Amino acid sequence: MINVGIIGFGIVGSGTARVLLENKEVIQRRAGFAINLKRIADLDITTDRGFPVPDGVLTTDVNTVFNDPEIQIVVELIGGIRPAKDFILKAIQNGKHVVTANKALLATEGTEIFQAARKAGVEVGFEASVAGAIPIIKVMKEGLVANRIKAIYGIINGTSNYILTKMTDEDVEFADALKEAQKLGYAEADPTFDIEGIDTAHKLTILATLAYGIPLSYSSVHIEGISKISAQDIAFATEFGYKVKLLAITKETNGDIELRVHPTMLPKDYLIAKVDGPFNAIYVEGDATGSTMYYGRGAGSIPTGSAVASDIVDIARNIQKNSVGRVPTIPEFTGEARIRKIDDIVSRYYFRFSALDKPGVLSKISGILGKYNISITSVIQKGRRIGEAVPLVVLTHEAKEKDVRQAIAEIDTLQVVTGPTCMIRVEGKEET
Ligand code: HSE
Repeated sequence: MINVGIIGFGIVGSGTARVLLENKEVIQRRAGFAINLKRIADLDITTDRGFPVPDGVLTTDVNTVFNDPEIQIVVELIGGIRPAKDFILKAIQNGKHVVTANKALLATEGTEIFQAARKAGVEVGFEASVAGAIPIIKVMKEGLVANRIKAIYGIINGTSNYILTKMTDEDVEFADALKEAQKLGYAEADPTFDIEGIDTAHKLTILATLAYGIPLSYSSVHIEGISKISAQDIAFATEFGYKVKLLAITKETNGDIELRVHPTMLPKDYLIAKVDGPFNAIYVEGDATGSTMYYGRGAGSIPTGSAVASDIVDIARNIQKNSVGRVPTIPEFTGEARIRKIDDIVSRYYFRFSALDKPGVLSKISGILGKYNISITSVIQKGRRIGEAVPLVVLTHEAKEKDVRQAIAEIDTLQVVTGPTCMIRVEGKEET
């Protein structure tokens, strides 16, 4: 039997406890021994979480988790940086293995935690930190261990995906879709991390470290969220045969690694473009496997609890077989991480210019695009309002981001351009 203590009895904490308690037998049958949930520490132990917890398990004193010599695995599920980090470091110092779902902490301060764990000879499980129920961490560490990873494209924030899906299906603006997401409990009261791409970037940081063996590089991720996407852009995307998704992208080209999070137009018949609502999906291309894709619930109490429980069982199995550290927590990093700057990426682009509807405007804009080597594939102008502003939409062939930025800056100073240009990157094979 292995004893476990959970710190944090919120959404994920209660889901984990429930999975461990309600699926106790199935876990025991598969593992060959019992996982005993010995303690759950939280400041609030009186609110009913909707399932019975055995007597004596709940406590408001977190020290009863750290200081119990029988507890071998401490599960941190309070989220945020502090005091979560202190709790994790304390558990490690006390020789406990740790399981956490805390992507913000791992992406930004994980190096210190992983070093402390290595020194103490304990494991840190973090399956639930990326894409909730989807076992993507295990896939990256074990299933794809024999592959060079060419690229990862992920929809790994359910809140943003729900909002973009609603905007697409119901032709509503961002603010209304966000309100609906909040009403349904998908978005946090402060939804900044979800809608501004920060949560996605935290998760991408972890995936890129596993894929490429680079140090955790959150500060190098280029991050754009979805709050500036309008219903109009989504309608144009539909017209061109695309869906707009908030994508986490990491890929390797000649030793350079791209790390970026931004709204992206994807051909609507791509499998990943069909991932709608609050669901997550991760497309991973390995040199041996070719295309693979993983789909499921990226959030939610019990689905995320399932991922936490899988880490607990993995670590417990290693403890039982004296094989702690059999699968390294993160790869040992050697060499130099070459992160490609966003200016140096190459992509296709969608531009929506707000331009006056009068002769010569398109030639002025296309002249500047041409000057920066940006070649146009399609143009749409909607409406006919002579002398007034109308949206002028342009799709391009592949271009360098630096050229695109310079061209837009110049176009936005034109007198015939009445507002800032909207730019969305376009992925997928170009039609020929
Ligand atoms: N807030 C996240 C999401 C869930 O919307 O996907 C937890 O990672």
